[in-house]
Amino acid sequence: MAEYKPKRTGSSGRSGGPPGQSRDLAVRVKSARGRKNSSTRWLQRQLNDPYVAAAKRDGYRGRAAYKLLEINDKLKFLNPGKRVVDLGCAPGGWLQVAARYCGEGKVVGIDLLPTEPVAGAQVIEGDVREPSDLDRVRDLLNGAQADIVLSDMAASSTGHKTTDHLRIIALIEISLDFAHEVLAPGGWFVVKILQGGAQGELQKQLAQCFDKVRVIKPPASRSDSSEAYIAASGYRGPPVKATADAADDASES
Ligand SMILES: C[S@@+](CC[C@H](N)C(=O)[O-])C[C@H]1O[C@@H](n2cnc3c(N)ncnc32)[C@H](O)[C@@H]1O
Repeated sequence: MAEYKPKRTGSSGRSGGPPGQSRDLAVRVKSARGRKNSSTRWLQRQLNDPYVAAAKRDGYRGRAAYKLLEINDKLKFLNPGKRVVDLGCAPGGWLQVAARYCGEGKVVGIDLLPTEPVAGAQVIEGDVREPSDLDRVRDLLNGAQADIVLSDMAASSTGHKTTDHLRIIALIEISLDFAHEVLAPGGWFVVKILQGGAQGELQKQLAQCFDKVRVIKPPASRSDSSEAYIAASGYRGPPVKATADAADDASES
């Protein structure tokens, strides 16, 4: 698989700024009868997006692969032998990146949608909100702990910013609960967020169980979107309160 280097398609000649966000669109798409304006805009953006072109060229399943590549370029957490869980893995770009950096047999994923097989990764179709589906992910780990838990999940957009934010926070909380079950000490938790009011509380929660919590907006993430990624590293274990609650539960049973 070729090294990624998205190229500008625009001809503005501006230097600086991320390669995925040239303002000078090269291909214009005319509106057509029966096609909504929003679809025309989407098509135009796709046709002019250097990350879409780079994904085709490099053999990645989609432009999302570059978000993980760019986060990893900065933080260098994907390394040979690391075991990775990818929550919300379809169509499989992050799986491809993780398998490439960490090695075959080290990557497991889950998605609501079917994922075409990815060399070196094991995937199940399921819903992270269903404990029995997460049990199946745990089974794929075969008793081993994970070094990295990733989530690029988002529920389908409602178009209402606050609702979308709260829905992704709920998915992150499920991912974090799962991370508490499978993550090895020192592990990484890298998740997508749509930024909003509940983010501060989430980051506080993460700071209780990870050494470092960063918020990253990789260049491949569109500048007009509230999307960003939280990368928490140096896992220390579940927060003290959760540990105390578990001890209470055990003594009551
Ligand atoms: C942006 S896509 C992931 C792209 C992926 N990182 C890649 O590189 O191909 C988000 C995915 O999250 C999945 N998803 C959303 N909610 C989910 C849930 N409750 N359980 C499992 N997957 C979920 C969606 O089906 C979708 O495929």
